[in-house]
Amino acid sequence: MEDIQTKLIDLAKKAQEKSYSPYSKFAVGAALITQDGSIFTGCNVENISYGLTSCGERNTIFKMISEKGPNAKIKALALSTKADIPCSPCGACRQVILEFSTPETLVFFKGKSGYVSYAVKDLLPGAFTEFEAVGHDGSSTTIQSGI
Ligand code: THU
Repeated sequence: MEDIQTKLIDLAKKAQEKSYSPYSKFAVGAALITQDGSIFTGCNVENISYGLTSCGERNTIFKMISEKGPNAKIKALALSTKADIPCSPCGACRQVILEFSTPETLVFFKGKSGYVSYAVKDLLPGAFTEFEAVGHDGSSTTIQSGI
């Protein structure tokens, strides 16, 4: 897995060069490998209406699903920043990563003292993965995320 980590961090660094981040000036790149060996990269894309900004991790995952279809799963995902300063995935991205992960999926990012590797379940303990949808007729259906 160390080879994959090095390769994904390298690809994330290349992807961050494409970042559109004129407002925060904080370029983020991401790269992932799917369970069947495909690679996808992406970057953050900001907007003058700040809340419309889309993070590097999510853009990369949405590329993966758009290209490979709904059953694609992430084997590992890395993120990097322009200044190579510590940056962990935001909460929203953690939830999206989880949606397309397996119990083995790993996430690599720079912590305070170098790159760290996390299992997705440890990035989002107590994650929202299931709810009861109650219909108008009172019927109840359990909705679960793909993991
Ligand atoms: N950003 C990401 O792309 N991923 C994260 O996990 C954290 C934040 C971006 C969003 C915004 O363009 C910039 O970093 C500053 O928040």
